[in-house]
Amino acid sequence: MNTIIMKTTEPGAFETASRILQNGGLVAFPTETVYGLGGDALRSDASMKIYAAKGRPSDNPLIVHIADVKTVYELAETVPEQGKALMDAFWPGPLTLIFNKKKIVPNETTGGLNTVAIRMPVHADAARLIRESGVSIAAPSANTSGRPSPTTAQHCIEDLNGKIDMILDGGSVGIGIESTIVDLTGDVPTILRPGYITKSMLEKVVGHVEIDRAIIEPDPALRPKAPGMKYTHYAPKGCLSIVEDTENPKLATDAVVAKINELSDQAISEGHTCVILTTKDMEDRYPEKTLVFLGEDSKEASLGEEVASRLYAALRKCDDLGADVMYSESFNRDDLGGAIMNRLLKAAGHRVIRV
Ligand code: TXA
Ligand code: MG
Repeated sequence: MNTIIMKTTEPGAFETASRILQNGGLVAFPTETVYGLGGDALRSDASMKIYAAKGRPSDNPLIVHIADVKTVYELAETVPEQGKALMDAFWPGPLTLIFNKKKIVPNETTGGLNTVAIRMPVHADAARLIRESGVSIAAPSANTSGRPSPTTAQHCIEDLNGKIDMILDGGSVGIGIESTIVDLTGDVPTILRPGYITKSMLEKVVGHVEIDRAIIEPDPALRPKAPGMKYTHYAPKGCLSIVEDTENPKLATDAVVAKINELSDQAISEGHTCVILTTKDMEDRYPEKTLVFLGEDSKEASLGEEVASRLYAALRKCDDLGADVMYSESFNRDDLGGAIMNRLLKAAGHRVIRV
């Protein structure tokens, strides 16, 4: 298949993308979190094409992207008060809400579940595409299943060129990690996937919020409520480990730096291609090593946002460098740090070396 690639600023880009979506085709497009791979959420054939293009297991449900609140009532059977409050507070934005679904939403879109995940993106291009096409857009992240999520159109091209109808290039995304998912079908709103909207932000609006235990404890006996969270997502090709100081997990201490230098020396002497994930201000601490930077300054208050926006591109860079062994400092510095560490731990298959 020939994939049309157009910048969102090119004349005709949205008309072309809209026509493709209306005809049941697939378009990758930018959102504020990561690029999505979109198809008509109300057409089972479009959803099936999404699974095929990504190589994604079809029991892993898709998020439906909408552009106005009234559409929620067309897709969701019931909208609890807490859902209304969260929509008011955080939509449009990086928050996905799970409701009981109406029949109109095909089982293919929801991976066979009776619930539907809905989100209203704030990204102007995403909102425009939904509005102009008139389509509620089912969209998982626009990566090949198992690879780091795409934060640029180039990442979508790497994974999906030739497999989908169109890639809409709107430049780099802002946030860089996927939306927070909150399940509203139980008694207490429950976070199924941490993201930019943190637990404390949610609790300011709806009081107590729980976190699905299965995503905090890597216990194989616990089954995550978001089916996608059980897969080793976000994984670079090589073997990534996180090095953390048990007494001071918030910092890359001297002990962490010494351990990473020791382990990487050993890996290099064994003939491995080794990459270290750190921040630019730490450059001198890892002499003669290959470094990929997740941020500029480890002491900056905005480090979390910077790491979120660079994380997936950094993991792809490790692949490009041919890294088969990688060590990362821990980035559990703030609220957003929890979401970052959730992704980093998954990328590392929960390999943490404690010093
Ligand atoms: O930021 C995002 O949410 C991005 C952009 C494109 O919007 N999308 C995204 O989609 O991350 P995806 O497919 O990569 O992740 C969707 C997650 C999966 O873990 C899936 O299992 C979960 O949402 N999910 C979807 N519908 C669900 C449902 N009804 N119940 C529980 N989990 C659900
Ligand atoms: Mg994904």
